Amino acid sequence: MTTVPKFVIGNWKMQARHEHGLQLARDISRRLKDAPPPPHLHTIICPPFTQLDGVHQALKETGLPHEQLGMGAQDCYPASSGPFTGDISAPMIRDLGARYVILGHSERRQNHGETDAIIRQKVKAATAAGITPIVCIGEHLAERNEGRAASVLSTQIEGSLTRGFRGILAYEPVWAIGSGITPSRDELQRKLTLIRALLPMRLMTDDIRVPVLYGGSVTSVQAPSIMSIEAVDGVLVGSASLEAQSFLDIIDAAAEATTPQPSP
Ligand code: 13P
Repeated sequence: MTTVPKFVIGNWKMQARHEHGLQLARDISRRLKDAPPPPHLHTIICPPFTQLDGVHQALKETGLPHEQLGMGAQDCYPASSGPFTGDISAPMIRDLGARYVILGHSERRQNHGETDAIIRQKVKAATAAGITPIVCIGEHLAERNEGRAASVLSTQIEGSLTRGFRGILAYEPVWAIGSGITPSRDELQRKLTLIRALLPMRLMTDDIRVPVLYGGSVTSVQAPSIMSIEAVDGVLVGSASLEAQSFLDIIDAAAEATTPQPSP
């Protein structure tokens, strides 16, 4: 049995109204309670801020340890408290049971002008609050087509991660998000190998193992192939995490692809 943890993370974005979100969390919880995935597979659900409390209660009722079934928020503010109208701090989401926070998602980089420097401040804030950051990086289509993906990824890693970063990295090519298009196995293998090579320079040590995930149009159909790529430590799932059965199918596929089969 592998000891390296693998991750299936659901990012609901701004997409589930209150009752829908809670029902979704209950449906996922019920199934995972009845048939828990193997302990090396960590499932994390990231609802909107307003549902953190309710989702946390639903997940807790499974009795599963938070490593196996955890909850994350989708953002946090760099300061821990202060006169910042409308913002929510890392300690506040921690109070509601969040153990993780997604930071630097391309939708926030694009819609809120988040820079690598801001993301790095948020990483520091999350870490100080005892929350594991899930930092997203990824190139735009034009950058990929112009052969600039490697330098974009390098800049994002250098700029948005802290030295000695202890968190999760998600490679989400912007062109794959919500498009129904996923990179080929070959491209994914190359990009993740590149990211793994860049990480020790930023971390200042190669002793720290940062899980590297893939995100962008992941469904239960592609999940087995993606999860079987050696360099992939998990998937960050958007729209397919908004329906209990499709998310559970991805969890099952990830469990199957990452659990060594006994030799005949
Ligand atoms: P989709 O799975 O909907 O493409 O979204 C991916 C994503 O942005 C997850 O953070």
